[in-house]
Amino acid sequence: MTTALGIDIGGTGIKGARVDLTSGELVSERVKYATPEGGHPGDILSVVAQILDDLGGTSSDHTGICFPAVVTHGITRSAANVSADWIDFPARDMFARSLDRDIHFVNDADAAGVAEARYGAAQGVRGLVIMLTLGTGIGSAFLMDGTLVPNSEIGHLELLGTDIEKRASNAARERDGLSFPEWAAILTQYLTHVEKIFSPELFIIGGGISKESQDFFPLIDIATPLKAAELLNNAGIVGAAYLAGNSLLD
Ligand code: BGC
Repeated sequence: MTTALGIDIGGTGIKGARVDLTSGELVSERVKYATPEGGHPGDILSVVAQILDDLGGTSSDHTGICFPAVVTHGITRSAANVSADWIDFPARDMFARSLDRDIHFVNDADAAGVAEARYGAAQGVRGLVIMLTLGTGIGSAFLMDGTLVPNSEIGHLELLGTDIEKRASNAARERDGLSFPEWAAILTQYLTHVEKIFSPELFIIGGGISKESQDFFPLIDIATPLKAAELLNNAGIVGAAYLAGNSLLD
């Protein structure tokens, strides 16, 4: 079996598992810890080291890490829901040096989108697929004929008078006590806007709340087909592992 390790760093939790790269399934337990208060690089590094320790394996394991920020050349360029220490921070090098292994480092929504294209709801879909993860913020992944166009960041479109993730994320729904019809009305405005600009073939909605898609998808009124992420909340882990290890599949 060809496997790699995937770690998904989020604003509230950090989780990891070993992934079978042929099927995209987790082949270890899913280890999860709370994100340390403040989300500073050194503290997050300690948790990631603990997860790798829990998962066993060696430094020759292909290891992918996904993170909620713009990532170019292994450097984190933004910090919407994490410590500002991550802005222009050489994240990939810090993890690689401290964990004594090569690291593939990628945006969390981009990792999730790649996982859906390879193993889930976007498999075989031609043209533009837009995945949106509705969690603490809103992450986005653009996939053109299955190929990732990274760092799209359309959770930060300015709409309804604000950065849209502040109104339309799942955290915003909870904070504002919105019913599903109220939240779906906001999502309809957001997705209609995105639809107008990009004319995608398909939207995929991920994040923990995608488990409840049957309760709010029917209330979203758009023309583009809408699917729930098939890998649910494991998409980031699976995509990070796949990106780290896909050369093993050749
Ligand atoms: C960040 C993105 C991230 C998303 C989901 C946004 O606030 O800017 O980089 O993908 O949250 O975690």
